[in-house]
Amino acid sequence: MNYSIALVPGDGIGPEVISKTVDVLDLVGDKFGHVFNFVELEAGGRAIDSTGEPLPAATLETARQCDALLLGAVGGPKWETLPGDLRPEKALLGLRAGLGVFANLRPASLLPQLKDACPLKDGVLTASNPEGKANFDILIVRELTGGIYFGERGREGDGKSGESSAFDTEKYSRAEIERVLHVAYDAASKRRGKLCLVDKANVLESSRFWREITMKIAAEHTNIETSYMYVDNCAMQLIRAPCQFDVIVTSNIFGDILSDEASVLSGSIGMLASASIGGKLAGGKYPAGMYEPIHGSAPDIAGKDLANPLAAILSAAMMLRYSFSLEKEAQAIESAVNKTLDSGLRTKDIASRTKNTANEKLVGTNEMAGAVIKALETE
Ligand code: IPM
Ligand code: MG
Repeated sequence: MNYSIALVPGDGIGPEVISKTVDVLDLVGDKFGHVFNFVELEAGGRAIDSTGEPLPAATLETARQCDALLLGAVGGPKWETLPGDLRPEKALLGLRAGLGVFANLRPASLLPQLKDACPLKDGVLTASNPEGKANFDILIVRELTGGIYFGERGREGDGKSGESSAFDTEKYSRAEIERVLHVAYDAASKRRGKLCLVDKANVLESSRFWREITMKIAAEHTNIETSYMYVDNCAMQLIRAPCQFDVIVTSNIFGDILSDEASVLSGSIGMLASASIGGKLAGGKYPAGMYEPIHGSAPDIAGKDLANPLAAILSAAMMLRYSFSLEKEAQAIESAVNKTLDSGLRTKDIASRTKNTANEKLVGTNEMAGAVIKALETE
């Protein structure tokens, strides 16, 4: 089959991890008889430099026509002082909304090879685990196109002394909540059958609405064990006993915060992939799901052969799985990444925190990606 993939390498380490990911996809295409046609597009800081705006209309238009979008990262110090609407991050929000990808899947698990890179003590992981194992496997389903990220915002003034207050609004419609819950319940039914709604229903009306709707949908999914947790407690439970979670479903802002926390538990934010789905995959208009590593542009290490390419490569595996239903191919990539980690290769971010590094070899972006490609050749 032929697939068109919009590529937004973006800023910072984005271009280097995306170029490695393209090499991986080209090899998958050769091995399994698919053709991936890449269309490179500008967004973020790079687009601001060349066109004056973070998300040129042509980028969104073209992305809408592609089968999927693979994004590196956007942003950097160069553009940090620009007004909110002109910042590179606006490109991300514009792509998410413009493609209608309302459900963001962020898996965070502890691979056995990276146990020593997890900041939690072994005892904390094992004591809280019913099987006594030092592991966890969580899927955060974050609502991505609503809530405070997109609600009404502004500044107000009394006319004399200029602006005296500023506000952002957390607003959710029933339909927005229902559709992301359906994605989350579907995911839970394919995993360990547990779903936890994370909210702040003891304070926020919008959270009470989420809870009410979840309770109704939970009643239709008696095969899934549904639970409810306040977000402050969840922040604590994630570092106290992460293995208690299977699927976490939550609002845009809570999901943003909790997924960064969860990423560190899995060794490094450099490992975490993400898939943003919705659009045509969920009855919407545009075909493209959006796939991106969650690590951001990391300008301090850009261009130095230090970035971990695995999150981007694993995001491509998610793209094959969710957008193209190429499960075998997705697993081949995941297995190649596993073997590479088995062989002891580590970029700096996932190197052991302990001294027991005998089996580890510190490598850069190129060597790590090269090893994945080599492992994939023999898959
Ligand atoms: C993320 C990022 C973005 C977000 C930023 C860069 C706008 O933190 O994808 O988690 O807040 O959604
Ligand atoms: Mg974030």
